Amino acid sequence: MSSRIRKAVIPSAGWGTRFLPVTKSIPKEMIPLVDTPMIQFTIEEAVKSGIEQIIFVTSRHKSAIEDYFDRHVELEALLKASGKLDLLKSIEDLRNRCEFVAVRQAEMKGLGHAVWTAKQTVGDEPFAVLLGDDLIFGEPPCTKQLIRVFEERGTSGVGVMQVAAEETQKYGIVDVAAGPGPTYSVKGMIEKPSPKDAPSRFAVPGRYVLTPEIFAILETLSPGRGGEIQLTDALAVLASKNQLWAHEFEGRRFDTGDRLGFLEATIHVALSRPELKGPVRAMLERKLQEEGTS
Ligand code: G1P
Repeated sequence: MSSRIRKAVIPSAGWGTRFLPVTKSIPKEMIPLVDTPMIQFTIEEAVKSGIEQIIFVTSRHKSAIEDYFDRHVELEALLKASGKLDLLKSIEDLRNRCEFVAVRQAEMKGLGHAVWTAKQTVGDEPFAVLLGDDLIFGEPPCTKQLIRVFEERGTSGVGVMQVAAEETQKYGIVDVAAGPGPTYSVKGMIEKPSPKDAPSRFAVPGRYVLTPEIFAILETLSPGRGGEIQLTDALAVLASKNQLWAHEFEGRRFDTGDRLGFLEATIHVALSRPELKGPVRAMLERKLQEEGTS
């Protein structure tokens, strides 16, 4: 068994109902921020964190994701022939740095079930999980920060961030032992508690490093919140055995599962592009002025 984290599971089987109507025919993960599908930002975080194999957990209507990471021989030939080498590099780059595998989740039974679906492909080694709806920009990347803690502690862990009390019902929330941070031992974990039931304000925005024991735990679980097999419930079992930590990562996180979060991420990405920064700022200022005068 490898004790190094080389593989990352990216669950991407969901319907994307919050982004209907576009998600009727385009997977949520393929919606772009400026010109780049959202999933590519997640993959870049994984690859920059040292991940060598990405395992997508997809479903029937998600083949566009698999196609995106496959070769496109005709397009490559066209770009080469017309000397558009920058564009060629942009489509070849990630594929050269990482291997992509897809497994199918035949039924939508929740995040825990999606992770369990990758069991055979992950094998008997620790792995990372990244949820595509949470975009985290940081240096070192969030997943790398978690892998470093894993290398010291050797047990499973989650990335956490502090949220406002009224936000706890959107996340898995951890109960942590007192300590100076940024890494804490986790005593318990609850999926989407109301503010009054939340044991803390430390929320998990979709970043995990897990030991393969998680698969055996997932197999024993009954459906939890929303009738789904919850990854949070499996993590709570690890916490009860004192085998889970939480690390308050550094980085800028966007909730692209939410329309406003998606728009903010779009603006963030646009402003981070040197060629777009000036024009986008000017456009936003002009727009605000127009709004103010109308
Ligand atoms: C999932 C997890 C939840 C986590 C969240 C992060 O919920 O179940 O524990 O905090 O992702 O985005 P979802 O947002 O898929 O309902």
